[in-house]
Amino acid sequence: MSELVNKLMCENIKALKPYESARRIFAGGDSDSETWLNANESPFANDFDIDTEHFNRYPDCQPQRVLLPYAEYAGVQANQLLVSRGADEGIELLIRTFCSPGKDSILICPPTYGMYAISAETCNIGVERAPLNADFSLDVSAISAYKGKVNLVFICSPNNPTGTSIGKAQLKQVLEHFADSALVVVDEAYFEFDANNTWATELATYPNLVVLRTLSKAFALAGLRCGFTLANNDIIYSIMKVIAPYPMPEPVAQIAAQALSPKGLKQMTEQVEYLQQQSQLVKQRLSQFPELELVGDDKANFILFRHPQKQGLMDYLVANSVLIRDQSKQVNLVNCLRITLGTQQQNEKLLALMASFFTQQEKSA
Ligand SMILES: Cc1ncc(COP(=O)(O)O)c(C=O)c1O
Repeated sequence: MSELVNKLMCENIKALKPYESARRIFAGGDSDSETWLNANESPFANDFDIDTEHFNRYPDCQPQRVLLPYAEYAGVQANQLLVSRGADEGIELLIRTFCSPGKDSILICPPTYGMYAISAETCNIGVERAPLNADFSLDVSAISAYKGKVNLVFICSPNNPTGTSIGKAQLKQVLEHFADSALVVVDEAYFEFDANNTWATELATYPNLVVLRTLSKAFALAGLRCGFTLANNDIIYSIMKVIAPYPMPEPVAQIAAQALSPKGLKQMTEQVEYLQQQSQLVKQRLSQFPELELVGDDKANFILFRHPQKQGLMDYLVANSVLIRDQSKQVNLVNCLRITLGTQQQNEKLLALMASFFTQQEKSA
């Protein structure tokens, strides 16, 4: 690094490493020749139409053709909604709007999604941690101790990577406890896989509630970068002061509007049902492998398991072009690997490779 770059770089950035997203770990790969089951993406690539007529114009900051159908889908008012470049941008906008660099902190409940901490660190915001209980429920008393010390509490439900949903009573306690001191952000990126369990309809009851959603998972549009922040209008209005002037590229708005049409919603529901069926089949098969322990729950489009030979298994799968995600560095997830559910054919390929790995191990034992 040049002296100039070193001199100019913000102190809090110096210590950071670029986020190891699933795509970066295996950068340069090819989803045609490899089986990607590592980023909780959908295996379905759906078709959309693009109209290039207005590409010479800047797009709407908050396109109504996306906001209105999503508001209806989520059961909120359009003024309780903000559309952004994925839920990831929603996370960062909340941090930039409600936390002062070098002064404020957020609270996270690991093991959980990595971007809350990464976004905070890049903005020079502190990160406090109240780990989940052994059964992945909230440790409400540990969380409560942070009252007055954090501005945002991030709770992921269904949680990535455990696939568990947070109980209503626990979340209610947290929302009430922080009512006058912090926003509670419920990340519902996987909501469609546990569709009876949402906080979006509770905005009127809890002025400090924020819900995050995305088109990246059930809607099979991770490549689109389109997510939503749902909250009372004073929160949305505040974030609008920070968001970029043109965050929604015109083609993104066009495709999102199609995904949210009645036809798009029907397709999404059918694909979720398919993946839920695969989840049951894959879980059943996994549980038959020696020493394999299923961990967490199946409320999302992935399955977490623990195995003492996780490294050998991971290496074997990668060598055979099947990519899954190592979660073993997360608190309480020693030896855990996460599989994103794919098509039946992809899942069968994974299971056959796992079977041959365990057979080889047995023979060499
Ligand atoms: C819990 C959770 N929230 C948010 C995201 C990011 O969503 P998006 O693709 O909309 O940025 C992910 C992606 O894996 C996730 O697992």
